[in-house]
Amino acid sequence: MIIAVDGPTASGKGTISKKLAAHFGLPHLDTGLLYRAVGRQTLLNGGDPDRSADALAAVGFPDSLLDEPVLRNEATGSLASRASVHPDVRKALFDRQRDFAQQEGGAVLDGRDIGTVIAPDADVKLFITASVEARAQRRYAEMQERGVSITLSEIEADLHRRDERDTNRKDAPLIAAPDAYIIDTSELGIEEAFNAALAAIAEATASG
Ligand code: C5P
Repeated sequence: MIIAVDGPTASGKGTISKKLAAHFGLPHLDTGLLYRAVGRQTLLNGGDPDRSADALAAVGFPDSLLDEPVLRNEATGSLASRASVHPDVRKALFDRQRDFAQQEGGAVLDGRDIGTVIAPDADVKLFITASVEARAQRRYAEMQERGVSITLSEIEADLHRRDERDTNRKDAPLIAAPDAYIIDTSELGIEEAFNAALAAIAEATASG
């Protein structure tokens, strides 16, 4: 079974995806990490993520980069959002994601274009969303826990910028697939959101 999970940053899609993967015993790929690694590697190369050639040159980042805590920072998320605009970069990361989705037994992938581009044939597509305020609060709590110094309004401004860029880019914009189940987690705790995802999967697999 392939489960595609898309949605904006800090919507809860990462947490839900990890829990789904554990529940169904499936491997999980956080595809945002790949774009974060490209953004980070572009910077390490002395390049500019707004330049397609610079971002493309960073696609060969070492896998060890994926484990670095700096990848989880807001600043790296912004670099990723800028680097991910370029069609060449998206194309270069396509096979890795597609192969992961198609492995025997299935997989859970989360990102922005899993249900639309990477795995349009997924058995279940979830689109996890939440208000900017709820997402900013969550991200703020997460950053505080990690000791990262950033204010709530800085986070809100960054979320707005990223939503705008991810939604309006020409190639693989952030959009729910027509057959995706939409789950708004603004008012939901983790267990409630997870249960809503399980209910959607039960419905999709029963009808499909
Ligand atoms: O999900 P995360 O916040 O880690 O993603 C970082 C950035 O990578 C996003 O803002 C988005 O621009 C980009 N991304 C993407 N396609 C994906 C996953 C992430 O364009 N499948």
